[in-house]
Amino acid sequence: MPTVKFVKEKVTVEAKDGEDLRTVARRNGVQLYSGPHKIVNCMGMGTCCSCNVIIQSGQQNCSPRGVLERLWKWLNPLLGLKMLSNADKEVRLACQTKVHGNVEVETHPAINWHGEQFWN
Ligand code: FES
Repeated sequence: MPTVKFVKEKVTVEAKDGEDLRTVARRNGVQLYSGPHKIVNCMGMGTCCSCNVIIQSGQQNCSPRGVLERLWKWLNPLLGLKMLSNADKEVRLACQTKVHGNVEVETHPAINWHGEQFWN
């Protein structure tokens, strides 16, 4: 059974094989959303991009990016900035990321304005 470690929250929980990170977080009381998105979000449909996280380790245990995630990288400026400024990290939408093994997840990733990758 995969384990998911939410690094900032210092919580390690078990997940079912193939379960998405949003479901795992919600079941265990981990808040993925910020500000108004705590109330208004797409409820896991993959359209609001507010559930973005960084997979710190175990990327190989996650499902590959789907069409929605690849599309939003270009259509959602905020998500695009997070992905661009954290180019050396794996920014994913929790609701679209299924786990098949152990992963470490950082919730609420910030835009890394000073990262080496950002202005290149
Ligand atoms: S909950 Fe809206 S994109 Fe994940």
